[in-house]
Amino acid sequence: MNMNKKEKVNRVVLIGAGLVGSSYAFALINQAVTEELVIIDLDKEKAIGDAMDLNHGKAFAPSSTNTWYGDYSDCEDADIVCICAGANQKPGETRLDLVEKNMKIFKTIVDNVMEKKFDGIFLIATNPVDILTHATQVFSGLPKERVIGSGTTLDTARFRFMLSDYFNVATQNVHAYIIGEHGDTELPVWSHATIGGVPVAKYLETNESYTPEDLEHLFEDVRDAAYQIIQKKGATHYGIAMSLVRITKAILGNENSILTVSTYLDGEYGEREVYVGVPTIVNRRGVEKVLEMELSDVEQQQLRHSVKTLKETMNPALE
Ligand code: 2OP
Repeated sequence: MNMNKKEKVNRVVLIGAGLVGSSYAFALINQAVTEELVIIDLDKEKAIGDAMDLNHGKAFAPSSTNTWYGDYSDCEDADIVCICAGANQKPGETRLDLVEKNMKIFKTIVDNVMEKKFDGIFLIATNPVDILTHATQVFSGLPKERVIGSGTTLDTARFRFMLSDYFNVATQNVHAYIIGEHGDTELPVWSHATIGGVPVAKYLETNESYTPEDLEHLFEDVRDAAYQIIQKKGATHYGIAMSLVRITKAILGNENSILTVSTYLDGEYGEREVYVGVPTIVNRRGVEKVLEMELSDVEQQQLRHSVKTLKETMNPALE
């Protein structure tokens, strides 16, 4: 073997070392996901401090992640550029309220990345994530399958956690999706929610302690979880960071895992020209395939409303 040939190592570039970005960096290293992690932030000292702080724990990490404070030139050889930069919700603010200020920030960031001939996969976390993912694809001109948003992966994780708690089963044995906008118009796909292969509806039929009202409140807790956490601690960051790591692992590990990332619809579910969270096969190419579930009439209507809401905000912002 040519010992001089540099083995291609995985490189993730993180743009935005705020609470979400720093939590993502910490989780990436502790889950040994990538060989290289580059941190970029307007606050250079913060980014340098994060890199130092993370490297000092290297001896305890499951494998070696080479972490440094970098700049946009590091994007040229990056496999994934994850954007966590931008303003986050303040108490009482919706995610859609952030569109104007974050759209401007994204235009600058994406232009800077593409100037360095980035040819990998964008992973977007900043809210409103569906709209900013779509904007990133427009600004970058990369193929749609290589621009992915965190979408409703976190909402789906919250849903699975709360269902596992309610039915007292392991989270891993709950299969249920939240789809649509990562936001107030998201919807639960009850028609395909199963626990151990048994439809959730069946549990209600066979045990009167389980009620439709409880499940409605459970979904509302999922949908409004961020507001509740922001009210208590000012921001959310651990859950979204772990969702981003899950998506990163699916990409770098070429997993073909099914995640409800924010992906481009080109006719699936009767919708097009929109990024929204739906079950999607994710691998080294980015989005391999969107999975089209048979939705109930109510679910189809709710998804249509979610897409309409996104388009009403997205289109004027992109003009
Ligand atoms: C969340 O859902 C704020 O979008 C972020 O935790």
